[in-house]
Amino acid sequence: MAWGPNDEQATRNFISHTIDNATREPRRDFDFAVVLSETGAVIGSCGIYADDAGDTAELGWILHTDHWKHGYGTELGGELIRFGFEELKLRRIFAPCAAVNYGSRRVMERNNMRREATHVKAFWARVDNEWIDEAVYAILAEEWFRDRYVKAI
Ligand SMILES: CC(C)(COP(=O)(O)OP(=O)(O)OC[C@H]1O[C@@H](n2cnc3c(N)ncnc32)[C@H](O)[C@@H]1OP(=O)(O)O)[C@@H](O)C(=O)NCCC(=O)NCCS
Repeated sequence: MAWGPNDEQATRNFISHTIDNATREPRRDFDFAVVLSETGAVIGSCGIYADDAGDTAELGWILHTDHWKHGYGTELGGELIRFGFEELKLRRIFAPCAAVNYGSRRVMERNNMRREATHVKAFWARVDNEWIDEAVYAILAEEWFRDRYVKAI
């Protein structure tokens, strides 16, 4: 991850801090450990990264391969979106991914994010050593709250 490797205490501090070290403002970037509720095992990480205005944020996620295809990606994606709209009061949430990344695309589609763009050869694929297409998904607060309201009645 961009923020590691660290020892356990440094990671706990990083996850739990409330003030941005650089700006001394309340933090706008949140990295979370993904933990299995039954065992407490850490199986991955995810985050939400707001812009300076606190208007728009980008999402990211990664899980250990042993835990793929159990619905955890969809669950954490939904919780990141809820956190962004309900608690951070964001207006728009988006995420880019490699267009070939079926799992990541499905996490977004299952959470009603809209595919808004395909950026041609915009994503550097380290494994394949080439530029590949990038898909961008997004959802607006008004859409998310409307869907929640419609489901509730
Ligand atoms: C993307 C990721 C978080 C998805 O997590 P997950 O817990 O497996 O997702 P879910 O179980 O909620 O599954 C969502 C869908 O993706 C599919 N899927 C998940 N991982 C997949 C994989 N590696 N290959 C093919 N399909 C996959 C599931 O089968 C499901 O498909 P469906 O909607 O057709 O039934 C996980 O695959 C991952 O950590 N990938 C590596 C990191 C990464 O790519 N991060 C995003 C960078 S933009």
